[in-house]
Amino acid sequence: MTDLRFDTYREEVIGRANVADSDELVDFYRDLESQSAAALWTIANKIEPWEPASSSVPIVWNYERLKPHVLRALGLVTPEQAGRRVVYLSNPGRPDVAAAVGWLYTGIQVMGPGECASSHRHSASALRFIMEGSGAFTNVDGHKMTLGANDFVLTPNGTWHEHGVSEEGSVCLWQDGLDIPLMNALDANFYEVHPELNQAISFPIDDSTATWGNPALRPAGETWSKRYSPLLKYEWAPTYEALQRYARVTDGSPYDGVHMEYVNPYTGEAPMMTMGASMQMLRPGEHTKAHREVGSFVYQCAKGSGYSIVNGKKLEWKERDIFVVPSWMWHEHVNGSASEDACLFSFNDLPVMRALGLYRAEGMLDNDGHQPIIEG
Ligand SMILES: [Fe+2]
Repeated sequence: MTDLRFDTYREEVIGRANVADSDELVDFYRDLESQSAAALWTIANKIEPWEPASSSVPIVWNYERLKPHVLRALGLVTPEQAGRRVVYLSNPGRPDVAAAVGWLYTGIQVMGPGECASSHRHSASALRFIMEGSGAFTNVDGHKMTLGANDFVLTPNGTWHEHGVSEEGSVCLWQDGLDIPLMNALDANFYEVHPELNQAISFPIDDSTATWGNPALRPAGETWSKRYSPLLKYEWAPTYEALQRYARVTDGSPYDGVHMEYVNPYTGEAPMMTMGASMQMLRPGEHTKAHREVGSFVYQCAKGSGYSIVNGKKLEWKERDIFVVPSWMWHEHVNGSASEDACLFSFNDLPVMRALGLYRAEGMLDNDGHQPIIEG
């Protein structure tokens, strides 16, 4: 017998692979290797776990600590050199695929006054959540949008898009969220630079919000056939107002507090095919119960402070901090303030899970729905 084992994943359970190594079997496995093949039972229990076993780890990125590093990039590379001047957040469990969690990517982009990156398009769908600064804009297929803090913006897959900051603006930072790792996992990723580097603006500024961003009102006679939302910018003020109004008449979700999803106003579905997003408000002192879902989540604290417990790990957050909840991990949220509400923006891959019939969720029944803190 050699010391290289092939039976590491054995399980003493009927119906699961349970084959002990023998000299004869190890010979067999070696012969298979020489044919670029292998015996399924040596890895079956690993590649088909009993339940999702994410390699992503729960982690929070502290904005205060990260921001000076992001600002440093301003003086080190131009948007022309970098294409996109972004510091991306690399999950320690997913460095090989540049994911923040699961198959989702996130980063913090920084641009100074007068800067504009070149226009491009790609198979990956993208979204932005604006962190700070004034004068930022995003152009999407001829629609120009002005951006303010806590605005949520779409650049759906296949659309030409570019970002910049006006001359009169200040240094702007925003969070990018993309499904790049998913596109690469599917071997489906294309990227194109705009032939003229910048696109023409062919609609009135902020027309998408003026047309499609009115509550429960649809422009009469307008139709939409694309597979993403015609509303490309969801502004903070009406979003926060909606949460407050809803909070007056609901106890909210036991797991997520006062929780609202951003939707395509034409269909009521998720704004893009692969990624959904939501904003939730935790009322003063609120401590939600734990649940878990099939799907990966990237959060940014938009307002207030508190902490979340993810599979027993305490992640403390305040405004602008970014944290992740990997698939099928227990999570509960706590507003740390007794007087102020806290708001969490998040985006997720639930549209993919739902389209494939994979979504499920369950609430924690033990211990009154709360996890013990193991790490933090
Ligand atoms: Fe892009």
